[in-house]
Amino acid sequence: MQKMSGRKRPCRAGTEKMIVLGIESSCDETAAAIVEDGKTVLSSIVSSQIDIHHRYGGVVPELASRKHIESIGPVVHEAVRKSGIAASGIDGMAVTQGPGLIGSLLVGFSFAKGWAWSRDIPIVGVNHLEGHIHSVFIGDDPPVFPFVALLVSGGHTGIYHVISHIESALMGQTRDDAAGEAYDKVAKMMDLGYPGGSILDQLASQGDPGKIRFPRPYLDKNEFDFSFSGIKTAVNRYIQTHPDEYREQTADIAAGFQDAVTDVLSFKLIRAAQEMNCRHIAVVGGVAANNGLREKIRSRAAEHHLSVHIPPLELCGDNAAMIAAAGYHYLKAGHRLPLNADVYSRIKKE
Ligand code: KG4
Ligand code: ZN
Repeated sequence: MQKMSGRKRPCRAGTEKMIVLGIESSCDETAAAIVEDGKTVLSSIVSSQIDIHHRYGGVVPELASRKHIESIGPVVHEAVRKSGIAASGIDGMAVTQGPGLIGSLLVGFSFAKGWAWSRDIPIVGVNHLEGHIHSVFIGDDPPVFPFVALLVSGGHTGIYHVISHIESALMGQTRDDAAGEAYDKVAKMMDLGYPGGSILDQLASQGDPGKIRFPRPYLDKNEFDFSFSGIKTAVNRYIQTHPDEYREQTADIAAGFQDAVTDVLSFKLIRAAQEMNCRHIAVVGGVAANNGLREKIRSRAAEHHLSVHIPPLELCGDNAAMIAAAGYHYLKAGHRLPLNADVYSRIKKE
């Protein structure tokens, strides 16, 4: 048996709506969502584990898997209930296959395979990063192909040239820390708590970005790779050399750090759009929730007459609606997950 197949209702494009159940469990969120035609969210449930990992200052993989096991059933059940769609009305399924924490991925992946197999509905595996990119297709203002997407999360930072729903090319990525990881580490250095991104973002709004200046590592200005560990180290050096004053200056440090990170991210995104001759740009992933980044990209894009697409806050962090949105296009294109398919922790090399 190579493919999971079988369909209870015909769901040909243009003739009938396709209802997809998405499942996401790659890190510390257990999520399920029901999405119609890859763009209309009927329900989206996200069960966060922040309370569990908070006290350790980061995600503890073993605890994450155990919590996913407890949550997955109730979360999927709740998503189906809230959507108002009967389980028999689900036309297809999409589940995150990787990259992520293996133990966490396995919980959602195995659950989804079992659900699809027992109900005889088609299922596809979705790359988590493609899921994030599809968060901009939810709603009424999708970008026009081809476009350039900046993906900024806790595990990845990269720029993609997105050609179609199922084709994209990586233009550049971080050589060390992901942007969200740098946020989390800087927040930890200042004892601000976990996850640090939103805490630093809020603090930055109360500080002066011009008071303490941190380096902008543009690397080669015509290339699209990033490096954030230097900014992080510069913040650390500042803290070490100002052990008494820095506690009074956390807002200015946060503002200076955020200004440096968002300068580099917005510069490279706009350069990438120019390079590829694209008029539409997107910003996705957990760090796309950052107020400083959203504002800076919107204002710089306006100067260059680019159309900006950034998802609403609830679709920036990990969620299953984006997985269902991406999976919809793979299902429509006839992709199916072989029953013996496995999860992967790192990005697959084609
Ligand atoms: O996409 P996501 O939920 O999970 C991954 O796939 O990694 O991203 C989580 C990351 C964390 O590093 C978190 O600190 C960061 O997104 N983040 C933010 C903000 N909200 C979340 N970073 C900066 N500003 C924010 N407002
Ligand atoms: Zn993510």
